[in-house]
This record gives sequence, structure tokens and C-alpha cells, in this order.
Amino acid sequence: MKTQILEPTAINIMRCANKLKCGGLVAFPTETVYALGAIATDAVAVERVFAVKGRSHDKPLIVAAPKAEDIYTIAKSVPDKARILIEKFMPGALTVVLDKADCIPSIVTGGTDTVAVRIPDNEIALKLLKMVGKPIVVPSANTSDRPSPTLAQHVLNDLDGKIDYILDGGASKIGIESTIIDTRVEPPVVLRGGGVSNELIEKEIGKVNCRRERPTPISAYSPDAEVLFSAFYDGMVDNICSHYDRRVERGNKTVIICLESNRKAYGDRNVFSAGETYEDYAHNLFALLRRADTEHYDIVIAEGVKAEGIGVSIINRLVRASGGLII
Ligand code: TXA
Ligand code: MG
Repeated sequence: MKTQILEPTAINIMRCANKLKCGGLVAFPTETVYALGAIATDAVAVERVFAVKGRSHDKPLIVAAPKAEDIYTIAKSVPDKARILIEKFMPGALTVVLDKADCIPSIVTGGTDTVAVRIPDNEIALKLLKMVGKPIVVPSANTSDRPSPTLAQHVLNDLDGKIDYILDGGASKIGIESTIIDTRVEPPVVLRGGGVSNELIEKEIGKVNCRRERPTPISAYSPDAEVLFSAFYDGMVDNICSHYDRRVERGNKTVIICLESNRKAYGDRNVFSAGETYEDYAHNLFALLRRADTEHYDIVIAEGVKAEGIGVSIINRLVRASGGLII
């Protein structure tokens, strides 16, 4: 199979919709990261998604709907707090876990009775969803354990020859995945931090709990390079410099991911700038991890950030990319 990258013209979106309707797989942009789509009610197509991503079947897939009304056909019941979140944050970088309706096959949901649903805030994705007229699974379009793709080229690097089309919508606006929340329990639990911060969610529905990270995180989002990251504290820059210098002495090609404001402090060491703000950092992180591979770095040392707003999600991705190697 030849994988083609397509400009998101009306005709090409139609080609992709038709491909999906015939059981094909198409990657497309969302505002968080690129998605690997298949029609959610087509168990055979969904099975291919697991195969192509190399994903274990007990890890369920998120389902996307084109508009809020459709969520009520994908889910059996929608608690009040979920309704509020749907109204406030969808389309957007939030996914809610609900009791699944019978039309969603259990392969999608990892054998559980729940389904995670979102509405992507991206025009191309929404046009495609509307044309298809059925829910579409939207896992990130990377092979398992690789950083999520934020460019069409990242998808091609991972899935070339394995899927039909990639719609090219340029760089993903947010750059990390959606926040996942389960509102079936009280207080609701944030299962994965992401594009919508806990602070914003709590403004709408009051207190939420966060699922604690496992003490030994399973490595994910990882490039081939070894990733280390420093906790955020006053001595962070000095800490990173001394680790960098030790690694370079050992002959490792090393690069630091830092905020622009700290760049000067690293002198002539190799740095990738993650931008000015935490939003920029989130937007650039996965692309920079992939760039480290393209440029054959052995070691990436990433700056930590404060655990506030989207910083919480950045820390979560860094813990996982590093397999917990905090310096
Ligand atoms: O922003 C996003 O959510 C992106 C875009 C492409 O839609 N998708 C994404 O999908 O990050 P994926 O497959 O890479 O991650 C989905 C996460 C997994 O951690 C999975 O365990 C969780 O969602 N998940 C899916 N269905 C669930 C369910 N019914 N209950 C709990 N967690 C669920
Ligand atoms: Mg993923």
C-alpha cells in the first residue's frame, strides 16, 4: 500500500471519507495531535488500527463525534457534569468517559462498558466527520510508544505503507493530547492531563481528582534518544548544565530542550528552544523529541516546568518520555 499525503481540499476530504466508509484508515489533523481514523462501528477496520499502531487491545480508543448531539447516540447516559463539560469545552481538547451505547463494538473500548468521546476543534477533522456521518476512532497517529505526531510528516515517518491517506493540516495547534475525564464517579477523575487544564475544568464543575502517576512509568512518547528531565527548581539550569557536560564528556551527542528565556544560560551547549510560554512548550515538545532522532542525538535533557495549568500535562509527558529518569 502506498500512503499519500493529501492537501485538505474538499475533494480530498471526500476521498478520505469514502476510504473510511470502505473500511480504510486515514490520518487527519486535530487541534491536539494527528489522529488515525477508522469508522468506530466497523470492528474490522478498528482491528487494523490496533495492528498498524502495534497497540495492545486492552488500551481502548477514543471516539470522535462531529457534534454534541451525536455523543448521545454513542453513550448510553450522560451525567450532568459531563453535559456541562460538553457544552463548555467541545469542540476542544477534552475527552469524557461515558457508559457506551451498544453501537460501539467492544474492540474499541478494550472490552469495557465505557467509551471515551471527544469533538475535535479542527475544521478539517470536523468536515471529515460530517461527511462520514458516523463516529470515528481517533487514537494518535503514531506507532505505540513513539511521540504523538504534530505534523503530517511525523505520521508518514511512523505509518508509511500501512495506511491509505494522511490529510495535511499543518502543525497541530495545541501539540499534546486531550484531557480525559471520567464524570461517572464523584468527584470526577482526570485520567490523563492534556490540553484543557484542571483549573479550567474545576471552574465549571468543582473539585476533580487526578489519577496518580504510576511510580515506575511505562515508557511512552519516547524517541530513540534517551530522555532525561530535570524537576523545576531554582537550581534547574545548573543541574542541567552539569548533566549535559558529563554526558558530552562520555561522548554522547546531547541537546537541551529549554524555554527561550533560559537559552542564554546554557552558553554554547546544544539547545532546542521550546518557545516562550508553557503553551509553546506543549506545542513544540513532541516535534522536538522527533527532531532529536532526525538529528541523531543520543541524549535529550528537557527542562521541567511548574505544575500549574498546562504545565501539569507537560510534566506528565516528560515523565513518560523519560521512563521516569528525573535528574
Ligand atoms: O487528543 C487526543 O485525545 C488524541 C487525538 C488524536 O484525538 N488521541 C489520543 O488517543 O491521544 P490515544 O489512543 O493515543 O490515547 C487514548 C487514551 C489512552 O490512554 C486510553 O487508555 C484512553 O485514552 N481511553 C480510551 N478510551 C477509554 C475509556 N473508555 N476509558 C478510559 N480511558 C480510555
Ligand atoms: Mg497515543
